[in-house]
This record gives sequence, structure tokens and C-alpha cells, in this order.
Amino acid sequence: MPKDFSTLEDSNRSANPSIHEVSDPARRTVLRGGMGLAGAALFGALTGCAGDARSPSGPRLGFKGITVSSADVLIVPEGYTAQVLAAWGEPVGIAGAMPAWAGDASNSAAEQAVQMGMHHDGLHFYALEGSRRGLLVSNHEYTDDGLLHLGGMQPWTAQKVAKSQAAHGISVIEIEFKQGRWEMVRPSRYARRFTASTPFAVGGPAAGHALMKTAADPTGRSVAGTLNNCASGMTPWGTYLSGEENWANYFYPSDQPTAHERRWGIRKNSWYRWHEHDLRFDTVRHPNEPNRFGWVVEIDPMDPTSTPVKRTALGRAAHEGATVAVTKDGRAVVYSGEDARFEYIYKFVSRDSIRPAGGGMSAAQANADLLDHGVLYVARFEADGSGRWLPLVHGQRPLTSDQGFADQGEVVVKARQASDALGGTKMDRPEWLAVDPTGGWVYCALTNNSARGGEGQPGADAANPRAGNTMGHVIRWQEEGDFDGERFQWNHFVLAGDAANERAEARGNVKGDAFACPDTLAFDARGVLWIGTDISSSRLGQGEMARLGNNQLLACDPASGEVRRFLVGPVGAEITGCSFTPDGSTMFVNVQHPGESPSDRSDPAAPRRHSNWPDFRPDGRPRSATVAVRRNVGGAIGT
Ligand code: FEO
Ligand code: CA
Ligand code: CA
Repeated sequence: MPKDFSTLEDSNRSANPSIHEVSDPARRTVLRGGMGLAGAALFGALTGCAGDARSPSGPRLGFKGITVSSADVLIVPEGYTAQVLAAWGEPVGIAGAMPAWAGDASNSAAEQAVQMGMHHDGLHFYALEGSRRGLLVSNHEYTDDGLLHLGGMQPWTAQKVAKSQAAHGISVIEIEFKQGRWEMVRPSRYARRFTASTPFAVGGPAAGHALMKTAADPTGRSVAGTLNNCASGMTPWGTYLSGEENWANYFYPSDQPTAHERRWGIRKNSWYRWHEHDLRFDTVRHPNEPNRFGWVVEIDPMDPTSTPVKRTALGRAAHEGATVAVTKDGRAVVYSGEDARFEYIYKFVSRDSIRPAGGGMSAAQANADLLDHGVLYVARFEADGSGRWLPLVHGQRPLTSDQGFADQGEVVVKARQASDALGGTKMDRPEWLAVDPTGGWVYCALTNNSARGGEGQPGADAANPRAGNTMGHVIRWQEEGDFDGERFQWNHFVLAGDAANERAEARGNVKGDAFACPDTLAFDARGVLWIGTDISSSRLGQGEMARLGNNQLLACDPASGEVRRFLVGPVGAEITGCSFTPDGSTMFVNVQHPGESPSDRSDPAAPRRHSNWPDFRPDGRPRSATVAVRRNVGGAIGT
């Protein structure tokens, strides 16, 4: 089975709104020069992505763009150097517990639990001393169990399940820039791992709820672990947010899954097979355990003794990540997408304003319950370019007891069902969101949805304008008033694609370097929008992706719409996460799953079949890693 989780999760059979089926998908594509469009067939004729009409000039892209590549190397522009840092298996630096990486995958579960996890994803740099020392926090989204264990999954044992669980989660490492290179500081008092068994507290309306209680946790307030941590967000109070994404693939239901399980995509194809040795993941025995995943989790990287928390007020979803904006009166607004076909975009507005540090408390401690109180909304995109945020508030119709929502706890646990009832817009797999620091527009990557317009599936609509959307697009909106506004205006920033494709819907309107499947979005301090791509390994180099090479990172000027290719990854890898030192002189980006097989897990007998990045050792194996990119002459990246 290919690792293409989009094909595993497609459970939205709700019949909510039909308005999109009669909308003109072309109307909402803003074109440079005010050109009009008559219909979907004209997508192939689009010549450039939308510029930002409000900005006279954008940030300068001062580097020479690079060409596509299918080689097993990581490429950056002339005048730049990329350094590999913190690959899978490196000890994170916990004093007295720093087992060396074993290149034959023979590290034990206990050793893996104090080493960098597998499949690095979202990341963020937290400065300790300006731009020369800080903490790097990374997600470890999932595992390739063919690569992780001696002998792969043959045989499949409790010890291998434990190692797989230890390779998931989040890492905190300390790094320092010394003599022209970044190095891990080991040991470090900050070094820490969160895995699939680390205790997490539960905050918000689902804390202590009946739907959260299990035999192991009759309080419903303490969950073992975090799973499938995908994208990340940094809060203004110094904490790290991480989305639990494709958690449904870890659970195994009965022969007749409940309607609730079906709506969340839990079915008899558990990819990870943990339930065979850890009954917590067997929903027949532990029916509420899945309700304890699918949350945005918050950790305080600066306090190694702090308890991480699942923030249930932000709603349960296949959460990609969480991106924070701040209203003029200091309240936090958290945007989050649900990366699954035909699912939703959310925002949460905190009740209270962000508190400053003081009275012996850090800012993180002063805001320890900020994300537990507020209003959650789901987005509805109208065909006329307007949009509304629909509140998921218990007691407001249709989220009432007679409709099956007993209280706010049930609303957030069943956020998908609540959004179905409210009429949220079913999107083409929302991934990262980013807020333009110079203009306030909120951008969301919609990575792809080849099922759009398929038999029995929703057709193209205004916000998701292409049937068979193999390429993905970036949508953006501006809130009316402030970030807490309940209405917004939206348009498409770019439809990804390759203008040389035969199929009109796969050509897109990229002004500059062609790309597909946008996933990571991040703004730097200058206002450059960085786009990381995730063409699944089963499609890389094939068909409509044939001319796009390996996954890549591109820089985009939001004012002109120009897209320029900055970095291309090794074979099979996804490029994800993008964070900068405060002075902009180092970019940290994660290279996930180099060498991932297009058709199955890695073959333990041939771990280097597709890639041997980054070590290229004759007896090694490919490893996800963070890459630190710098200009050889110094100065901000991209200038
Ligand atoms: Fe984990 Fe949606 O990418
Ligand atoms: Ca992603
Ligand atoms: Ca993705």
C-alpha cells in the first residue's frame, strides 16, 4: 500500500451546502490585470498567480532560482550552504541518556525514546541568545517501520510497537552556532522528547468529559502520548503548538464501526498495527481512546518540567497544525486546518487577552489556560468572494441536545459532525496556514484532492475550483475588522500546477517556477511567503508530476505573485517546516522521509534502495533531518 494517507481518509458523507455546486469556480480566481474568465476550461490559460493589489511592492527575491532535480541530493541556490542537523536517531542530549545512533536500526525502544524521532515535520526555533543559540522544536509525524527496525516488521513484536511509539512525537533540542556551523548542545537542560506514551493533561471543554474517559484514565484528564504530529505553530507567549493529524490510522475498530468511528475514518486497515500488541489502540476494548487524539497540543519548550496539554477548545480534527494571530486588544486567534479530503478550516478566538510575564511567572505560565476558553468557528466560503465563520457553540442551533450534542465537550469531540450540521465548506485537504506580517491576509495551503468531482463526491466549487485537483492551491482571506471578525473576503492566491500539462485542470496559474501539492506555508520577517511541497512518494516523477522533480521549497512575493524555487530535496522526501533565526540569517527546514518507497514501507533488506541521504554511508540508511541554510556571505535568507 502506498503511503498516501489522503487515500486512507475520506469520510465526509454529509450533505451540507449545495451552494457551491452552482457557483462559478472561476469567479474567485483573482487575476493580474483584471482579466475575466468564462469557465473552468480556461484554467490552462491563466498566466500568473494573484498579486496583492494593496501592496505596491513586495520583498525582493534576491537569489538565483534553481532548476528541478530528481537526484538524491539536497540543492540550494548559488551562494548558499545547507548543513544537516539533528537527523533521526541522534541523541537529543538528555544528561546520562545519550545512546549513539545505530545505523543498522538496532537501537532499542528505550534508546529511541531519548533520540530524535522519525519523519521530522513542523519545527520552530526559539531564541535563547539572539540568533546564535536557541531551542529547536520538531514534530516527528510518523514511522516507516520497514526502516525503523532490524528486520522491518518481520516479525512484528511488542518491542517494535514500543519503538515505533517512541519514534513518534516531538523533540526539543538546544543548538548553538559556532565557528560557522550549527551544533547540537549535548547535554542540555532543555533536551526533551514527547512520545506516544508521554503523559499529557487535557484542557478545555472536553477535559473530564464522559467521551474522554477510559479504563486507564477514569478522570478523562490525562492522556498517554501524542500522535502523528504534523505542522507546528509558535505562540506569542513562547509555547509550541502541534497538530495531531492522521491519528485515525492507528486505531482498529470492530467489524461494525460505529457512525462516530466511520465519520472519523477509523476502519479495519490500521496502517501501524499497534493494536496487535497494545490494546489501547483496539477500539472494541477501548472505545473512547480515539477521542483522546486529534487535538492541538501545547508544550512549553523553555520549561523541561512542564506538563504538555491537549487544547480541546480548539476542536478535534485531523489537525494539520495551528497558526496564531493576535487581535488589536490582545486576544489570541488560532487558525487550523483539517488535512483530509472534504474537511474543514477552523479558527478559535480566545476569551481573554494574552497576559505578560510577571509575578514570578513566565509568559507561558501566565497564559497556561488562555487556549481553554473562547469560541471555535468553522469556515464557510461563499461563491461571491465573501465568507463567514460559523460558531461551534453548544446550545446555538443546530448544536443542541436534541440534535445529539449534549454539551460543549461533545461539540468539540465531534467537531466534524458539528461542522457538517453547520454547513462548513468541504475543502481540498487544508494544510499549513500562515498570516502575512505585513498585510494581515491569512493564507492556507490546500494540498490536493483528486477525488473532487469524482462519482458520488462533491464537485468543484468556488473555493475548491478544480475537479480532480491533483495539484492543490493556496487560498487566502482577510477578516472584516480584526482577526476575530465573523466575516471575511477571500480569493485564490495561486493554483499550483505545471503549465506543460495536457489536462487543463493540472496546469495551474503559477507565475514563475512550477510546483505541485503545497503543504508548508511560512512567512519570514520580510514578508516572503515560503511554500514547501508534498507530492506523495507514489506520485513523485509520475504522470502530471513528471516535470516537477523532487519535493521543494519555493519563495513567493505576495505582492507580485512571483514564485521562485529555492531548495530541492533528495529522492522521496517531503520538504516541511520552515523557521528562521531572529535576524533571518539561518533558515531551518525539515526533510521528511527521504527514500520513502512509492509503493510500500521500506524494504529492510534494501534500506538504501531509493535514497541514502544524508549520510551516504555504504552500510547506512536514509534519515529524516533538519537542514540549516545560510548565505555564504551572511545576511537574511532570500535577500
Ligand atoms: Fe502531515 Fe497534512 O501533512
Ligand atoms: Ca503537512
Ligand atoms: Ca501533506
